[in-house]
Amino acid sequence: MLQVNSDRQRTPEAKYYISDDVLAAEREKLFFDSWQFAGHISQLVAAGDFVTTSIFDQNILIVRGQDDEIRAFYNVCPHRGHQLVEGEGNKRVITCPYHAWTFGLEGNLRGLKKGANTAAPDRSEICLSAVRVDQLAGFLFVNLNPDATALADFAPGLEAQILATCPELPDLVLEEGAALGHTYECGANWKILIDNYLECHHCGPAHDSFNDMMDIANSKFELFENYTYQVAPTAFKSESKAFPLDLDHDVTVGNFWFLFPNTVFGQFPGTRGFYISRFDPVTPDLTERRTLSLTTAEPTDPDMMRRHKLRSDWSVNVVSQEDRALCENVQRGMKQRGYQQGWYITDPDEHGISEHAMRYFHDLYLNALEG
Ligand code: FES
Ligand SMILES: [Fe+2]
Repeated sequence: MLQVNSDRQRTPEAKYYISDDVLAAEREKLFFDSWQFAGHISQLVAAGDFVTTSIFDQNILIVRGQDDEIRAFYNVCPHRGHQLVEGEGNKRVITCPYHAWTFGLEGNLRGLKKGANTAAPDRSEICLSAVRVDQLAGFLFVNLNPDATALADFAPGLEAQILATCPELPDLVLEEGAALGHTYECGANWKILIDNYLECHHCGPAHDSFNDMMDIANSKFELFENYTYQVAPTAFKSESKAFPLDLDHDVTVGNFWFLFPNTVFGQFPGTRGFYISRFDPVTPDLTERRTLSLTTAEPTDPDMMRRHKLRSDWSVNVVSQEDRALCENVQRGMKQRGYQQGWYITDPDEHGISEHAMRYFHDLYLNALEG
């Protein structure tokens, strides 16, 4: 395990949070060269099942082949550049909507319309452009760098840690209606949202109900190669200002991971399940958080759905609103002429206030961008 690997006292300068040039550099050096969450394995059960995703303006499709192999391709036709497929679904062959060139699920060109005297490329010369795809505990990731390090080497031990902490994960199923993911918009830089995720220094002052449910003083952030893990026990109370907990059936100790650069996942206290989110920058000032949620195949108890709804309402209407207001407020702060860069609070014994995981994110970030 890594110790806090820098002793910097100051956070990145404000320009990193507001500049178009920085976002352009992040696009090339971070987002086009890292593992980006793209879906869940249960969306690709049968041959021909596919999902799509995009990283900035780069459109990607992931499909299970007849040979059962999962492959990813740029979602663009080699003929003249039309997009091949949209959304998700199942295809026996991929037919481009423009001139109906057809492609096999393995990316090979199968057919194009031609007559006896048509000059056309040989089929074997043309195929879809491949993208790296990998899996972590059932979650699909793509990477636009063809030479990218495999996920298991990029984040050593992460999958084993997730499965040891949440052994029920392989049995969970996509939550109804969640297959396409839930998108949450926030008018702040993507790093401000991740900064906010990686410290609970703000939980006491800014999240009254969450703080009442949790035992933040005993939460702990650990740093690993390219990821962090936070264990966050609740106060083990069945009633709190947040939502009711069933101490026999529900998750009573939260587990939260961050995978560099922009994915978070884990198990939130409350009804059993798992979530994963990707933070996508739209502009320096606007972020979309895309979330996919898993839940149990069967209710754990007759009251589960009621508690699930209460937690969901609280999450949408209370804690997310609190975090959005904080992040958007900080984004305005980044533009103030009186603010240049911030300070870290770190404490090896008091993880409830320490910002060392956030600093570690910044260390990785600065290293990737400028190192
Ligand atoms: S662009 Fe796809 S078939 Fe012409
Ligand atoms: Fe928060």
